[in-house]
Amino acid sequence: MSSIRRTAGSFLLGCVALAALTFVCLKVQLSAPVLYLLVVVFVALDGSFIAAACVSVVAALSLQYFFALPIFSLQGADSRNAMRLVMWLVTAFVISHLVIRARRREKNLQLVMDAMPALVVAGSTEAAADVYCNQRFVDYTGRSPDDMHGEGLHSVVHPDDQLWYRAEWKSAVASGQPVTGEVRLRDRRGEYRLFLHHLFPMRDASERAQWCSTFIDIDDRKRAEETLRHAQEDLARVSRVTMMGELVASIAHEVNQPLAAIVTNANASLRWLAADPPNLDEVRAATVRIISDGNRASDVVARIRGLLGRKETQKEPLRVDDVIGDVVALAEAEAQRKGTSVQLELSATPAIVADRVQLQQVLLNLMLNGMEAMNGVTGRSKTLTIQSRPDKHNGVFVAVRDSGAGISEEHMPHIFDAFYTTKTGGLGMGLAIGRSIIEAHGGRIWATSEPAQGSTFQFTLPAADSMSHDA
Ligand SMILES: Nc1ncnc2c1ncn2[C@@H]1O[C@H](COP(=O)(O)OP(=O)(O)OP(=O)(O)O)[C@@H](O)[C@H]1O
Ligand SMILES: [Mg+2]
Repeated sequence: MSSIRRTAGSFLLGCVALAALTFVCLKVQLSAPVLYLLVVVFVALDGSFIAAACVSVVAALSLQYFFALPIFSLQGADSRNAMRLVMWLVTAFVISHLVIRARRREKNLQLVMDAMPALVVAGSTEAAADVYCNQRFVDYTGRSPDDMHGEGLHSVVHPDDQLWYRAEWKSAVASGQPVTGEVRLRDRRGEYRLFLHHLFPMRDASERAQWCSTFIDIDDRKRAEETLRHAQEDLARVSRVTMMGELVASIAHEVNQPLAAIVTNANASLRWLAADPPNLDEVRAATVRIISDGNRASDVVARIRGLLGRKETQKEPLRVDDVIGDVVALAEAEAQRKGTSVQLELSATPAIVADRVQLQQVLLNLMLNGMEAMNGVTGRSKTLTIQSRPDKHNGVFVAVRDSGAGISEEHMPHIFDAFYTTKTGGLGMGLAIGRSIIEAHGGRIWATSEPAQGSTFQFTLPAADSMSHDA
């Protein structure tokens, strides 16, 4: 219906233009056929061949009536006018056909843009008057291209992201290179969601740069990742608690030793004080021993609290050898109880950036696994060797080697799977969590084993400076 109305409108407008030009031509002797052709072209540019064809016929009749002999009569058809009519009809057909094709293409492009699962904004500059936004952008932000003139995207970018966003724009425009980042955009109700932003240049045939920004909604995905990370951290903590359960007996013994020594030294001090004269030198020496035993006990308790208490990941620069030292101190009593000797082969390694507690957890599980694997060993020494050295790729390499039962080919592919255990009291989470921790630190963990000889668990971690290069 609207297309009929539009055709009728174009036709009427064309007729009015023809009438006006006819009047002008009659008055000032201008070439009517040329001006009539212009009217046909303009009507055809509106995309309606029917309107342009009708205007062409009216133009031909007008030419015959006003400008061909006999004047003011349609008698005596002029063959040149017939030729002109054919030419106008062909012109009207070609132009209206091209216009319709261009319109169809634009409509398809618009459909694609609107169907894209992203918000799209394009323009010659950030706040240009020729800004284009797809329908999703308008629906999400409630802002039309007209609203964007002069202010660009700043009105919808989160205030905390504005500085970064402006800087990105400037650097992209200066370098002509695309940029990618995360930015929060305000929706029509004033709430913000997180989007992945790509800004890239598009060059047309005249090399005039246009900029296109796409925004993909990653808010739900980010939230899911965050929830997953929390769940993993909770799980890691549960697994640490289980590990500590295994160590409880030996740790209780380890704390008990300095406590017993404190009591003994305190009693001795009382005796030296009761002597006449009091032997203050002995009292001083006993007090020094009390302080050092007290510190030893509180160190153990602090290590346990550190391992059990914290939940969130906290990365800091540290030396892997210090972490090995922490863990060996915690597992020492257990090693003694099990008759295992722990050997350290540490060499100077570069600093790493890591979460101390999480690395302790990885190493503690490897040590406990190794000690447990040597439970039934007879006829050879039970030795757990912990080795550290620089990795050939500029990072840190750590290996924990035992002389236990080894891992059979059947078990090997599964040992890093969650809940895979061959132990009656095992949770089967130690290695799974260990692997996710090492990988979250940019490293790799793997195992090798010779059945009946023992196994070696190895991991690498990137050095602190290589991580800052990557960032
Ligand atoms: N050093 C080792 N020697 C032989 N087998 C091992 C060794 N380390 C791990 N395994 C095998 O891999 C399995 C998985 O180890 P993982 O540490 O993930 O779980 P777990 O020790 O059984 O339980 P937990 O969750 O308490 O650590 C073990 O049950 C064991 O069969
Ligand atoms: Mg384990």
